[in-house]
Amino acid sequence: MNEKEIVLSGIRATGNLHLGNYYGALSKFVKMQEDYDCLYFIADLHALTTNPDPKALHENVLNILAEYLAAGVDPDKATIFVQSDVPEISEMYLLLNMHVGIGELLRTTSFKDKARKQLGLSGADEGDIEKQIIGSETNKRVNAGLLTYPTLMAVDILIQKAHKVPVGKDQEQHLELTRRFARRFNSFYNVDLFPEPENFNFGGHAVKVPGLDGSGKMGKSEGNCIYLVDEEKVLRKKVMRAVTDEGPKEPNQPISEPVQNLLTLMELTSTPEIVQSYRDAYADCSIRYGDMKKQLAEDILKVTTPIRERYAEIRADKDYIAKVVRQGADRARERASKTLEEVRRAMGIVKFY
Ligand code: TYM
Repeated sequence: MNEKEIVLSGIRATGNLHLGNYYGALSKFVKMQEDYDCLYFIADLHALTTNPDPKALHENVLNILAEYLAAGVDPDKATIFVQSDVPEISEMYLLLNMHVGIGELLRTTSFKDKARKQLGLSGADEGDIEKQIIGSETNKRVNAGLLTYPTLMAVDILIQKAHKVPVGKDQEQHLELTRRFARRFNSFYNVDLFPEPENFNFGGHAVKVPGLDGSGKMGKSEGNCIYLVDEEKVLRKKVMRAVTDEGPKEPNQPISEPVQNLLTLMELTSTPEIVQSYRDAYADCSIRYGDMKKQLAEDILKVTTPIRERYAEIRADKDYIAKVVRQGADRARERASKTLEEVRRAMGIVKFY
């Protein structure tokens, strides 16, 4: 029998999940569990890089676990675990950091974005961000964990020797670094320990789910999210308030960014016929944004309502959640401890007594 390929992915424990998380990651988790050896986790250590309130962190771990289960991740098919339940990850993070350059970490886009936000630096400082961080009076707010975020993510993936990592477009640079670190480790120690992992999108492109505010991606820190657990009324209101434009002025004019964003959300949630009908209506100037938004809200609710309903039930059953992650931690540690042993041996950390 062929061994199944290994799939690993995780989501930071920083709040409830939104449509970006769902289409970039979670919906793929559910589909992939049928054909692959899947491990899905809650990245609570990664959440620490932005110093959350301890109580909120704990609640968020439980929330996201319940959301995984409510969306259809099945603990009998996939391993579900919490990152901090696998201490091997923390040890390998220390070891792999010895092969990661601070320059390559400083240049990572996600680091620069987050550091810029935390230090309140404007977009104009882009080219100079490294100097700004090092020179800033307030640089204590950008912690070393944020800088070494990509090492920890690489370890999550490499310690399970994953082949496929279903993530959204914003994580592709981290995956590129993971491949680079894997190659570097294999060649430095002349071993063949790590496969080079790839994003997985069922043959399509990596998705970037847009926000409702006209530009950019949907993201927790952007405050432009539709959450899987949003109540029906709240969700409808958010969609009805989405930014559009003044309407097409002449036939076949290019579609503006805010309207394209709504169409992108429709492409994910509605049927191709519905999407085409609104494209045609834009092209012949008959489009009515109110109708379009009503349709979009309806189609999003078809996806989120069953998840929200199951979520409430699962979230209330802490014993069940505990059972799932206890079993998940055992399974995740099995392969992690084997890999860690191989890494230690390769690096010369060998017990001689
Ligand atoms: P996080 O928690 O920011 O996001 C979780 C997943 O959701 C995807 N995502 C999106 N996809 C499309 N459009 C959007 N607007 C959008 N917003 C979020 C992300 O791409 C991601 O797949 N570093 C990771 C967590 C992580 C991880 C890992 C992932 C830690 N270790 C190992 C995979 C493998 C993160 O911060 O994701």
